Amino acid sequence: MSKGNVTAESRAKTGTGANANGAAGALAATDERTGKEYDFPITDGSIRAMDLRGVKTDPDDFGLLSYDPAFLNTAACRSAITYIDGDNGILRYRGYPIEQLAEKSTFLEVAWLLRHGELPNKDELDGWVHDITYRTYVHENIKAFLQGFRYDAHPMSMLSSIVAALSSFYPSAKNIHDPAERDLSFVRLIAKMPTLAAFIYRQSKGLPFVYPDNDLSYVENFLSMVARMSEPRYESRPVFTRATEVLFILHADHEQNCSTTAVRTVGSAHADPFSAVAAGIAALYGPLHGGANEAVLRMIQQIGSAKNVPAFIEKVKSGEGRLMGFGHRVYKSYDPRARIVKQLADDVFKEVGMDKDLEIALELERIALSDDYFISRKLYPNVDFYTGLIYRSMKFPTDFFTVLFAIARTAGWLAQWEEMLLDKEQKIARPRQIYTGYGERDYPEGR
Ligand code: CMC
Repeated sequence: MSKGNVTAESRAKTGTGANANGAAGALAATDERTGKEYDFPITDGSIRAMDLRGVKTDPDDFGLLSYDPAFLNTAACRSAITYIDGDNGILRYRGYPIEQLAEKSTFLEVAWLLRHGELPNKDELDGWVHDITYRTYVHENIKAFLQGFRYDAHPMSMLSSIVAALSSFYPSAKNIHDPAERDLSFVRLIAKMPTLAAFIYRQSKGLPFVYPDNDLSYVENFLSMVARMSEPRYESRPVFTRATEVLFILHADHEQNCSTTAVRTVGSAHADPFSAVAAGIAALYGPLHGGANEAVLRMIQQIGSAKNVPAFIEKVKSGEGRLMGFGHRVYKSYDPRARIVKQLADDVFKEVGMDKDLEIALELERIALSDDYFISRKLYPNVDFYTGLIYRSMKFPTDFFTVLFAIARTAGWLAQWEEMLLDKEQKIARPRQIYTGYGERDYPEGR
């Protein structure tokens, strides 16, 4: 038995080692190179990659690595925040089904829940809403910073740079081990994201910036900063306020996705939360992640008409591009968020009128869900399939969609960042590699 490996028997005696099904166990393996036998304790349905390090051919051997490009089968943390069952289309925040939160909660309540593990009581909620509301203003220099971008700068480029810049406005946020500083960073980031997003929108449109109105709710205030013109008070359409609130709740967290992994990784180096969240925004920008909502709309516009859908699907099946808004690394059934978004799209379109692009989307979904290519690969609509249509009906420009996602995901990024920070098992994230390059060679003579 190599050092560091605990047998199933000793693990059971200490009362640890229950796997996801509640059963303790071990994986017995024989290294055919040496004939040695090993028992790898199984905990929570996983073995510890570090236990493999004890598997050596001789004492100087580094030990066995696990190779897992793109983390297809690697749990990098223990987390109590979000639960996903991808096969059965289940998503819960802190145990609460996403469907119930979308129906009954508000985004700020959910942001509190994600961080603290429980829904806020009345005093907690009032205090939280108050703190957020009174931190929505941003430093005036941010406006000058924004004005430095070219007229056609992508809103996500602007957002990631401005959030990174905020770190320089709040240098004490570097005191990440001080709980009071962390509280302040949570409040500042969640409060200022809608303001930054709205300022970016106004900058792109060449419109004057609209300052926050502290009498409005989080979502109404955001919509007011985006859309208010000369009227003294902006009143958003209730169906749009509701749609934004629900979309923010649906996007608030999604466990260890690409951008959250970026936030945790940057945070693991003990960078301040503004810098870590800026990294998350950069990851979210990618079309395979949050950028998909933008890509879906561009795809639908390129298809142009419902009658062109079958030909488009054939192209996708022959490998010419992907059906954007379909497929997910974790969900191998209908994304539960997509179901809610589809209903929301129905509600919005009932009020603003049916859209030709919705017809195309419905036809894409209908054909894809009955086609063996998609069925056999378990490709179903994901959250981004319908969100773009809702955002567009609200008159948001296509390249602004992912910014809306980022506002909401900030709540999850921060909760995950703090959980990582307080997790005694975590250290600076630093994967290993399998080197495939040259061995040592001499610099050529005469160069
Ligand atoms: N259209 C057509 N084929 C697809 C698609 C798609 N959207 N997604 C996956 N496939 C195929 C893929 O070609 C592969 O086929 P084969 O086995 O013949 O090579 C198979 O399905 C498995 O795909 P994969 O690339 O190994 O799956 P993945 O888990 O690495 O990728 C994904 C997940 C979300 C990146 C991918 O499904 C995708 O590119 N979807 C479109 C982009 C999108 O909608 N992204 C938003 C994700 S949800 C919100 C978020 O996370 O931000």
